[in-house]
Amino acid sequence: MKGIVLAGGAGTRLYPASLPISKILLPIYNKPMIYYPLSVLMMAGIRDILIITNPEDDANFQKLLGDGSQWGMHFSYKIQHIKKGIADAFLLGEDFIEGDSSALILGDNIFYGSGFEQLLKEASHQTQGATVFVYETSEPERFGIVEFDEEGQAVSLEEKPAHPKSNFAVTGLYFYDNQVVHYAKQLKPSARGELEITDLNKLYLADKKLRVARLERGFAWLDTGTHETLLQAADFVHSMQLNQGIEIASPEEIALQKGFISPAQLSAYLADKPKNSYYQYLARLLKN
Ligand code: G1P
Repeated sequence: MKGIVLAGGAGTRLYPASLPISKILLPIYNKPMIYYPLSVLMMAGIRDILIITNPEDDANFQKLLGDGSQWGMHFSYKIQHIKKGIADAFLLGEDFIEGDSSALILGDNIFYGSGFEQLLKEASHQTQGATVFVYETSEPERFGIVEFDEEGQAVSLEEKPAHPKSNFAVTGLYFYDNQVVHYAKQLKPSARGELEITDLNKLYLADKKLRVARLERGFAWLDTGTHETLLQAADFVHSMQLNQGIEIASPEEIALQKGFISPAQLSAYLADKPKNSYYQYLARLLKN
């Protein structure tokens, strides 16, 4: 299975903070935002990841993440020259996907909660159809929304509906079988001129191949789109980390846990890193 992080987008709602640098590289407390979605794909066991960026930000992402070998990963990069929508990721990523199944995550989506690894495992083991994750929201007009029938089956999907039929938002994490490029090629631009991920999911729904997994209460799906929510996300990460003495979304830790790198590799990696609290945490993992 291949993974894609969509790290493009204008990020104008965070101007001027995101004017000189991609929003996806801004920090959420002590890590660049992209560590969070990247960690989700790594937790799903995916090691081959395409990072789609804006032309002006590509070099910065490569500077931060390199080829991924430091974490036992393989990163490739692709530039999205024109903002054509989320589903465009599958047209840009066609050669990278090479007919495999794939998972897509939006660069500004942060997920955190117990039981998540199991949900990821189930989604990544699915060889047919698509899986999306929904989360109850108080602002359904802002998202893709799923309507369920009385048996809890998904019956409709709407992108940013004026009159939402439910409060269940489709989050920015999607798993697809090897038909996704074929489906993406059938899409036409929406009224806002984009290839909508919701339209792609509608094709799977119409073919009865869309699985909808619920992220329950107690799970956190955080928005980072505005100054206010960016700070809230940082506060959340900070207080969870402080209370539990853990790091949320540490690619190094996940790489070690998953056996993508050995303790000896992590030790060598840490040799030239500054001795700040983040790297000291990783050093402690090696000792324990
Ligand atoms: C996009 C999708 C939407 C989804 C949301 C999740 O919205 O179009 O369906 O609910 O991501 O973050 P956008 O980022 O374009 O507002």
